[in-house]
Amino acid sequence: MSGPERYRVVAVEPDERFRTRLTIQLAGLAPAPFESLEALLEQLGGDDPMVVVFGPGLANDTGLAHAQRLTRTHPMAGIVLLAEELTLPLLQQALRSGVRDAIGLEADDATLRQAVERVGDAIATIATRSVGTEGARRGRVIVAFSTKGGVGKSVVATNTASSLASKGQRVVIVDSDLQFGDVAVLLSVPPLHTTVEAAGAIAGADTQLMEGLLATHELSGLRVLPAPVEPSAADQITAQEMVGIVQLLRTMFDFIVIDLPPHFDDVVVALLEEADDVLLVASMDIPSIKNLKVGIQTLDLLALAGSKIRLVLNRANAKVNLDIGDVERALGVPADFRVPSDISVPQAVNRGIPVVLDKPKSPAGAALHAIADSFLVSDAESSDPEPRRRTWRRPE
Ligand SMILES: Nc1ncnc2c1ncn2[C@@H]1O[C@H](COP(=O)(O)OP(=O)(O)OP(=O)(O)O)[C@@H](O)[C@H]1O
Ligand SMILES: [Mg+2]
Repeated sequence: MSGPERYRVVAVEPDERFRTRLTIQLAGLAPAPFESLEALLEQLGGDDPMVVVFGPGLANDTGLAHAQRLTRTHPMAGIVLLAEELTLPLLQQALRSGVRDAIGLEADDATLRQAVERVGDAIATIATRSVGTEGARRGRVIVAFSTKGGVGKSVVATNTASSLASKGQRVVIVDSDLQFGDVAVLLSVPPLHTTVEAAGAIAGADTQLMEGLLATHELSGLRVLPAPVEPSAADQITAQEMVGIVQLLRTMFDFIVIDLPPHFDDVVVALLEEADDVLLVASMDIPSIKNLKVGIQTLDLLALAGSKIRLVLNRANAKVNLDIGDVERALGVPADFRVPSDISVPQAVNRGIPVVLDKPKSPAGAALHAIADSFLVSDAESSDPEPRRRTWRRPE
């Protein structure tokens, strides 16, 4: 099916001249013009996939507040913002408001069309998946894991989660580093309630209680279950309870992203088994790769999580004489994602804002958005009766 049959295109712009111009620019996609979001909302029926082009008259605080409302209430609406001048602060604010792409007015017709088609295809693919799984909501569990500390697990987990949330998905991040978890710090969310209280909600499968315990990351809409504030509280939570929490969250969210601790214990094994996807994070230095290789072998990680593993090479451009092919051979796992070493990451960490929202177009920000996007696409494909199968070799 071609674009316009899979999704509708509408253009919202108060100024009549711009509105007409937009209609002409997007002529092949038959856009329906609206002078305000209210006018559009009046006509919005079900939740059909739709690309909403916001004209330059909406490239301001009020327009972006509307964008945020629209993406929260209509997850099947993908917004493309057209701005007279696309500044970095505006772009950041737009992405935080759930806008999927933003372009400057100087862009040519083809660029605008491509942006609309890209967003439309993504939305339509997600819509197909939603129809297939209606009634049996079962969120996808993604864990970030490594056998070594400090390689970027929490950066990958918090950014993947916030990126998915900023794109209208219902996402919760769980900090399962019960002793030294720092997800709440990375997101600047005060840890009012933690996994200790959440364990109390699982007995009665009490989704309302769980809902009330989750903090909210205002910038992205991401929900957060932080680690206990007292490291000693870690002993109060069993692997079974942790899995119970995750299973309850599966009934409430599209994605459950879990940040794992750098060691291996019952909780970690249970969560690796429960996971649908394991983001195995390695940083590009010899100790990290060596540690990971030994870790994979001793844990028999491939037997435990084999086809679920996706290797994330962090700091992939660091100035070390390591070849990506050598790393793949050593680990017996192909590299799925590469996140470059980028000053924007520690800067964002210090500001307590995920880099995907703070500097979305920085090299690391873009690479982390790409990790999240891969779940949106492959999630849609997973309704396929023949799920993605990959074979893994034992490390050399
Ligand atoms: N791509 C990157 N470029 C630059 N700095 C990075 C990058 N990824 C991570 N860092 C830096 O490395 C630090 C450690 O990252 P992070 O906290 O995510 O590691 P971790 O694996 O979760 O550590 P731990 O094992 O302690 O939980 C971060 O504070 C961040 O500033
Ligand atoms: Mg961490």
